[in-house]
Amino acid sequence: MSLPVPYLSARTLTVVKKIDTSGAPRVVNLGLNESWLGAAPGVVEAIREAAPQVYRYADPGCGTMRAAIGRQFNLDPARIVCGNGSEELLDAVGRVYARAGDEILFPAYSFLQFAIVAYRLGAKAVEAPLGPQFSVDVDALLAAVTPATRVIFLANPNNPTGSVVPMDEVARLARELPSHIVLVLDAAYAEYVDPAEAVATFEIADRHPNVIVTRTFSKAYGLASARAGWAYAHPEVVAALNNVRGIGNVNGLAQVAATVAVGEQDFIQHVRARTAEERDYLEGQLRTLGFEISPSAANFAFVRLPGASEGWAQATVARLAKQGFIIRSNEDYGLPEWLRISIADRADLDEMLALLRVEARAANGEQLAAGA
Ligand SMILES: Cc1ncc(COP(=O)(O)O)c(C=O)c1O
Repeated sequence: MSLPVPYLSARTLTVVKKIDTSGAPRVVNLGLNESWLGAAPGVVEAIREAAPQVYRYADPGCGTMRAAIGRQFNLDPARIVCGNGSEELLDAVGRVYARAGDEILFPAYSFLQFAIVAYRLGAKAVEAPLGPQFSVDVDALLAAVTPATRVIFLANPNNPTGSVVPMDEVARLARELPSHIVLVLDAAYAEYVDPAEAVATFEIADRHPNVIVTRTFSKAYGLASARAGWAYAHPEVVAALNNVRGIGNVNGLAQVAATVAVGEQDFIQHVRARTAEERDYLEGQLRTLGFEISPSAANFAFVRLPGASEGWAQATVARLAKQGFIIRSNEDYGLPEWLRISIADRADLDEMLALLRVEARAANGEQLAAGA
């Protein structure tokens, strides 16, 4: 008996990494860039209050949620489309604007989903080379544009590198890019940088109808599991995205949660400050252990241990997981030496650091032995 043949090989992409935490007394996940500070105030209560309505269909147009977002950021709700997380919207952009054989362009070592969007469409994922220290080179991006380019994705700050593109460079990219090419500014970590940058991002979208800004409630707002994101774009782009998204894409409880959360900007300010504090602490501690740090503006650190043997990062991730601490290796990003570690509570960071200290010492011992 033969099986149905998928257009996409089920084995080409590993979207979810398997991690063995068996035997660990408790598990602290520092591998998904969740916010340890939890959901914005009032959100859990609002979900609880709305729970009895779960038998009803929610508003497919997310009217109340879009109005709340519009009010908060001074944006026209007609230019907003909500998604099942921002990942749905990134995927929707691909499905609206690209087809098999087209090119989807992004800087090297960008958020993995950009390549996944291309793969799902049979489009070609094209990576533009970076400048030094994982910096985005706007000229290299522009130079990589071909007649087949349909979409450019730019995550700012980027995951997994944590790097930031200066706003004047983002504005230049939007200005110099041919206007038939869609430019997606993925601002999933926008809350962790100066809020003025988010405003500037919306202004770029106002000036250029081919620019789409995507945002998420998964990170600083602490709603990763609710699956709520949104995009800001020209009304015609919004209409096109509305055509391809799931009709009931944002569930009712998520709409309620996002509507409350977006009003809690004091909380977001607190999250930004606390995350920066703990990120500085973590990076400082890792530096003393001999790690090289890639400067990160987001809620994670991106680091590597220079001189460690091949496979050290993967083995370290596996050993830490067995002890209950999940951190992320990045071989799937083509960066097998690098570790991405989410910012967390000081006590959890200290416990994780103690485990990493043992691993780093062992690696350094091996280096000394090899040099002897
Ligand atoms: C750069 C970037 N964009 C988008 C997303 C998607 O987030 P969500 O679908 O939870 O909104 C992520 C998630 O990690 C991310 O790192």
